[in-house]
Amino acid sequence: MKFFIDTANLAQIKEAQELGVLDGVTTNPSLMAKEGIVGKQNIMDHYRKICEIVTGDVSAEVISTNYDGMLKEAAELVKIHPRIVVKIPMIKDGVKAIKYLHGEGVKVNCTLIFTAGQALLAAKAGAAYVSPFIGRLDDIATDGMELIAQIRLIFDNYNYKCEILAASIRHPVHIVKCAEYGADVATCPLSSIMALLKHPLTDIGLEKFLADYHASQKAEKVKS
Ligand code: G3P
Repeated sequence: MKFFIDTANLAQIKEAQELGVLDGVTTNPSLMAKEGIVGKQNIMDHYRKICEIVTGDVSAEVISTNYDGMLKEAAELVKIHPRIVVKIPMIKDGVKAIKYLHGEGVKVNCTLIFTAGQALLAAKAGAAYVSPFIGRLDDIATDGMELIAQIRLIFDNYNYKCEILAASIRHPVHIVKCAEYGADVATCPLSSIMALLKHPLTDIGLEKFLADYHASQKAEKVKS
């Protein structure tokens, strides 16, 4: 499973990149706003900076909700860097835009996926990725992980090449479950990636290994 980081924070992107497990980045207008990136040129420059840090795909979302506007924005976004993936919302004009952009060889990530039917439509239109929002489904007492299983089954039935990019991940258990259910990508906050590292028995075990090592070194010194 690929690991993407779901943030526009450059320091966090660098930290995940340095860990050596990062395959890409996803952003959205809320995440850009959270970093205080305002104004079209600043947003474009910020995407460029992200692309310079990572070696994988970087999703950049359109703001327009009509076909012509989405295509115009997509044309501007893809000029920023060859690894920009255009993020398009799951709406009627979005599906048409995906179809057109796919024909032009542009990679699209179809976002705001909450049902298997939406994922199927996006895949048929030619999306490179679909982004089911796991956490937001969990928030309304619906099992987000079930959606991953459903989409996996459908895509495998028809051999769709579209990748399942599990989004709205909130904690490390979500990441592990995504891997179990066969998501192609999990896009996660840095905190969830780092939480995968942690187990108290690892810390206790390491402390004991080091204590035994130092005690034996000390004993050897006393002997000699
Ligand atoms: O990738 C989508 C993600 O940014 C949404 O996450 O936590 O706002 O549901 P959240």
